[in-house]
Amino acid sequence: MSDLEATARALVAAGKGILAADESDSTIKKRFDSIGVESTEENRRAYRDLLFTTEGGEEFISGVILYDETIRQSALDGTPFPKLLASKGIIPGIKVDTGAKPLALADGETITEGLDGLRARLEEYRGLGARFAKWRATYSIAADKPSEYCVWTNAHALARYAALCQEAGLVPIVEPEVLMDGDHTIEQASKATGRALQAVYVELHDQRVDYRGTLLKANMVLSGYGAPKRASVEEVAEASLEVYYRHVPAAVPGIVFLSGGQSDEDATAHLNAMNKRGPHPWELSFSYGRALQAPALKAWHGKPENVKAAQQAYYRRAKFNGAARTGSYAPEMEKEAVPA
Ligand code: 13P
Repeated sequence: MSDLEATARALVAAGKGILAADESDSTIKKRFDSIGVESTEENRRAYRDLLFTTEGGEEFISGVILYDETIRQSALDGTPFPKLLASKGIIPGIKVDTGAKPLALADGETITEGLDGLRARLEEYRGLGARFAKWRATYSIAADKPSEYCVWTNAHALARYAALCQEAGLVPIVEPEVLMDGDHTIEQASKATGRALQAVYVELHDQRVDYRGTLLKANMVLSGYGAPKRASVEEVAEASLEVYYRHVPAAVPGIVFLSGGQSDEDATAHLNAMNKRGPHPWELSFSYGRALQAPALKAWHGKPENVKAAQQAYYRRAKFNGAARTGSYAPEMEKEAVPA
């Protein structure tokens, strides 16, 4: 097995998943605004410190995706974050795209940027301790969206990123995210997701990427958040699995889901329902941002005296998602008292 495949497999080890803590400055500001905390460099450091130093987090967390600022920051005791994570057996990763920008001549669609100078940046990140990377493309659902133009330009960019990552010895997490905003049906989400995935695997293959040394970060197939009738947990599991069985090669070691605006409990329940229907050709795991962090953020409120409560809230979500890896989560577990 290649080193890349070994890293990809370690990231989807039994009972574990990834924490996405790679919010850009503008995204973390939004999260902090929601709890009335100013987004200063020190507050961002303190918040990430809280997550990364959570005792026992490594029982359920295999890797953490960092942001450019965060990979250069250190814990309170001076240990650089990548070193701190590695010492707990958690693999450090890095978001390397520079964001989704308007796609030229395509009203309301985006293309993800960040390829210029990427080879040198990957080399630097590897030196800072990163062993995997993330690049996120986004697609909207509407009558005329996603367009073939948007699907293929993003697939091409994702594959260029993935090839550069493998050359640099980093596992590329390939993230084509079909956004679930709007009032679309689950059938529309299924069609759009299948289309985006199919193009991604054509481009990855054509650009000589070894699927075995990659992970897919996928959206689940949901009815739109504004749809009059929302699909049930079982319908989501069934529709999502059907799309991955059609479009994701069995050589891919794992699919790690984004939560994409689902509630934390929904994200756990959906992952659980899919794993209950296993075994599958790939590991099905999580790479949640909001769905792992929301309760911790709320408990923290920027106050040092709340750090312990925030860590407990984060640990609890990580544990429930760890259980969802084997289909052994039950919504009743949510009633379990949080230790004081
Ligand atoms: P969410 O789980 O909050 O969607 O974030 C995951 C992520 O990393 C998106 O790129």
